[in-house]
Amino acid sequence: MIGLCLDDDGDGDGDGDVVEAIPIPIAIAIAVTKTGSIPMRILVVGSGGREHTLIWQLKREQPDAQIYAAPGNGGTKALAESVPLKPGEIEELADFADSREIELTVVGPEAPLADGIVDVFSGRGLKIFGPSKAAAELEGSKAFAKTIMEKAGVPTAGHRTLTDYEETERYIRERGAPIVIKASGLAAGKGAIVCQTVDDAVAAAHSMMVDKSFGDAGTTVVVEDCLVGEELSILYLTDGEHAIPLIPSQDHKPIGEGDIGLNTGGMGAYAPVSIADDALVGRVSDTIVMPTLAQMRAEDRIFRGVLYCGLMIVDGDPYVIEFNCRFGDPETQAILPLLDSSLLDVFQKVARGESLAGTDFRFSRRAAVCTVLASKGYPGRYEKGKVIDVPESLADDPDMIVLHAGTRRDTEGKLVTDGGRVLGVVGLGDDVSGAAAKSREAATAIKFSGKYFRGDIGYREIERQSRS
Ligand code: AMP
Ligand code: GLY
Repeated sequence: MIGLCLDDDGDGDGDGDVVEAIPIPIAIAIAVTKTGSIPMRILVVGSGGREHTLIWQLKREQPDAQIYAAPGNGGTKALAESVPLKPGEIEELADFADSREIELTVVGPEAPLADGIVDVFSGRGLKIFGPSKAAAELEGSKAFAKTIMEKAGVPTAGHRTLTDYEETERYIRERGAPIVIKASGLAAGKGAIVCQTVDDAVAAAHSMMVDKSFGDAGTTVVVEDCLVGEELSILYLTDGEHAIPLIPSQDHKPIGEGDIGLNTGGMGAYAPVSIADDALVGRVSDTIVMPTLAQMRAEDRIFRGVLYCGLMIVDGDPYVIEFNCRFGDPETQAILPLLDSSLLDVFQKVARGESLAGTDFRFSRRAAVCTVLASKGYPGRYEKGKVIDVPESLADDPDMIVLHAGTRRDTEGKLVTDGGRVLGVVGLGDDVSGAAAKSREAATAIKFSGKYFRGDIGYREIERQSRS
């Protein structure tokens, strides 16, 4: 078996120990399956729950695939070989993809997309799923996104883009509160501040524009009218012209049950969302996604990849709160387990520049709820390195999926916490309340010191269910 990347040590992690130990030319260091065919080689960039879910899904579709995670986390190791490269190390990632003859690269986080990872890979003839740097500006610059929406006539909150602090203060005082102040650039999901008073809004603008609390990301701000309604995430897979909607989902951003307290990266998500019926998804496609993609084509910034539409539904009408250029986290954890079609097929078509026209894409009629287990103190300061106990029985339940985010293996191989959001536990059920019960059961069974989770993920849908 020398020179083959099979899981020779039998621990299920497929980490190709023999190849690590004996340097041999890359060309022959390619795995073969038991049937003698060469498995597909895929690189997934990122280390969060979203990336673990992508790897889980790709492995579900192609059990033989040789997947690499750069850098991955404590959970991805069971499915993918960890590569010690960070998402920002674009040239090194391209060198790796080149040397390992990676056939497809999938990028999780926004920063490398905004920094042009797709342009670098494509320039070297490497297949990659995601938008170019010019297209990723839809997320990278809220000011740019607003301009595209204006030109395309896409419904969004009334707003003004500003670069001068005094003028911003005047505009805030003129508009009044509540009002939303957004750093235009990437701010790790923390750049939008919903302000209930004018004083808070002025302070937020001062902090961004004068104190540079988000660095250069806050030099330009978008001051936006506050929309009141229910939030919804609809993600589209797109070749730049055709777009396939994924099942609608809803994130839960605040740390506390009942949506109170500080905003986080997302404490849980569920799918489907009954307010997002076929008619609403059709309207989002027709009034938001198609005009946006057309405008991007017209500006020679063809958007290929995932277009994440963060929406506010106001009196039944969808408005864009934000566009993202990548999969959502934790929405992906709730969406992909419901998939009944091939994501890999779509990734490959888009990476090859092929059309998605006529692609059959289906979801099961079940429901999924993802509850995030966080470290005590998150989204503020928290400790790391707490030993995590995941009961083995969870793996035997087909309606429970444990997805890792901030985890790692310590030097003794023990699974320990390594981030604010530690795990996402997905429960599946025939409806959202059944799925939520499963998710909570798994969240309760997993133990680590300082574990915190919201026990109410999906509560809006469960209330709707109980009323109908
Ligand atoms: P963003 O970073 O743009 O996703 O915004 C973070 C959160 O701020 C959103 O999930 C909303 O809850 C809230 N938000 C953003 N824009 C608005 C708006 N125009 N009106 C009301 N809430 C908003
Ligand atoms: N769940 C919000 C995001 O991925 O941006």
